[in-house]
Amino acid sequence: MASDTVFGTFTPPGRAARLAYRPLADDTVGGLVDLLAALVTSGEARAFHPHAFDRHTLEALCRPAAGPRDEYWVAVEDRQVVAYGLLRGWSEGYEVPSLGIAVHPSARGRGVARSMMEHLHDVARDRGAIRVRLKVYRDNAAAIRLYAALGYRLEPLNDREFLGFTELDRLEKESAA
Ligand SMILES: CC(C)(COP(=O)(O)OP(=O)(O)OC[C@H]1O[C@@H](n2cnc3c(N)ncnc32)[C@H](O)[C@@H]1OP(=O)(O)O)[C@@H](O)C(=O)NCCC(=O)NCCS
Repeated sequence: MASDTVFGTFTPPGRAARLAYRPLADDTVGGLVDLLAALVTSGEARAFHPHAFDRHTLEALCRPAAGPRDEYWVAVEDRQVVAYGLLRGWSEGYEVPSLGIAVHPSARGRGVARSMMEHLHDVARDRGAIRVRLKVYRDNAAAIRLYAALGYRLEPLNDREFLGFTELDRLEKESAA
């Protein structure tokens, strides 16, 4: 199953270095604590706050309750956790997972987010999802550009946020074309 698999490495040409995708586990919780602390320091926890950032919370995510589980993945480069990606909603009974992503400030601008997004889309597809949704603050220009580049259609959710959707089979057809 996808969440038990180490996907090896992925190297977007000329951009990100070797990235290994791993389901969040005890040996990567420390690295994720560091990444999330860096977001707090940079003030970006305002844009990305899927859950509490403490170690206890992250350790609990490694041990989901029985039933449909959500997906929590890290991308590791040279032993550093450089990105965090999640797909949630299945554990609450939703068919369409909600995607979240954050890249360590020291690893930005090299295609790491784009690569992690593509990995999360593969995971969602493997789990049988046909769509993915996400929410993004209207002032988060980098994330909005990232999502638009990956085919998300954004619509107003409220005065602060957009709601975005993409169809996974459409993404597959586009990348095969
Ligand atoms: C948004 C974020 C994930 C982008 O990570 P990244 O690894 O730097 O992004 P990538 O290098 O993969 O860039 C992919 C695309 O995103 C867009 N993008 C990334 N950084 C950007 C920036 N500073 N300004 C404008 N667009 C940007 C571009 O479209 C870029 O494609 P291009 O390089 O071909 O122009 C990162 O800035 C981040 O973690 N921000 C804090 C957390 C957050 O806001 N998460 C999203 C919550 S909804």
